[in-house]
Amino acid sequence: MTSPQPSDVPPIADWNRLLDGKVAVVTGGGDGIGGAISRLFAQHGATVEIAEIDSDRAETTRAAIEAAGGTAFVHIVDVRKPDDVARLAEAVLGKHGSIDVLVNNVGDFRPIVRFQDSNVESWQAMYEINLLHFFSVTQAFINSMMRNGGGSIVNFHSVEGMRGYPGEPVYASMKAAVGHFTTSLAVTMGRYGIRVNGIGPDLTQTPQVDYMTGYEDAEHLWPSWAPVGRLGWPEDQARVALFLASDLSSYVTGHNIPVDGGSKAGGGWFYSPTARRFVNRPKTL
Ligand SMILES: NC(=O)c1ccc[n+]([C@@H]2O[C@H](COP(=O)([O-])OP(=O)(O)OC[C@H]3O[C@@H](n4cnc5c(N)ncnc54)[C@H](O)[C@@H]3O)[C@@H](O)[C@H]2O)c1
Repeated sequence: MTSPQPSDVPPIADWNRLLDGKVAVVTGGGDGIGGAISRLFAQHGATVEIAEIDSDRAETTRAAIEAAGGTAFVHIVDVRKPDDVARLAEAVLGKHGSIDVLVNNVGDFRPIVRFQDSNVESWQAMYEINLLHFFSVTQAFINSMMRNGGGSIVNFHSVEGMRGYPGEPVYASMKAAVGHFTTSLAVTMGRYGIRVNGIGPDLTQTPQVDYMTGYEDAEHLWPSWAPVGRLGWPEDQARVALFLASDLSSYVTGHNIPVDGGSKAGGGWFYSPTARRFVNRPKTL
């Protein structure tokens, strides 16, 4: 039996430019976690193709990347719409032929509908914003990645897909499905040089999830809310995405990493008799 040769491990030419010369598509890449990913990937040498529904957010991030000396392009799309996904793929593949990195990042827990009040329309809406486009966007790009000899796919879901989430079981189910799509696709695609991994965020301050407003008088309680003792920021998520997108993780595939300050490990949800609901940051119980 021969030992693995060092040449099996992709060399890192420049640790400050981990995605040098790569093409990366980031859905929802205009703001929040996606915005931080677009900026960090561009800083590391990637050409970033921002697929974003909000033109102001997309343009703000594109301009910030350009001002910092990076390269990014904007595609105004709603990833829930198959025609928009086809237009995105046509534009990106028409320009580059293939891509190296795909970050499926769009998702939303809103509006929260208690399961007992939910209906087929609310289930469909949760499906379209949290799961359907993971299939459609991935399929739109994966054939080119297979032809090109590989790539990395990073799927954002949620810690709520990795533990019981009392607030919205349908949302949690969609997120769990993204995690399992990730695991299964990784096994299918490994032989083509395509790695597929997932990130389950929690407790991260973004336009969608505002952990600060209304909690100004309770900042001192962060140690009881997150084992690492602080609020998370989009940059915390982007660093893990960079690891998974780059050759730093060349032997990692099929995994789902909670990026949550330890909330999954610590449990996280408490039933408050006074509030009479499940809360994840109790001021009092
Ligand atoms: N922030 C957290 O703590 C947290 C926790 C759990 C899971 N997540 C997941 O992480 C991902 C990113 O979350 P975030 O907090 O940064 O969200 P966000 O809403 O703050 O940002 C999402 C970005 O995607 C864009 N977008 C929304 N719908 C789109 C669509 N249909 N097509 C194209 N672009 C669209 C938005 O304009 C925005 O720029 C989501 O999948 C979310 O469910 C976040």
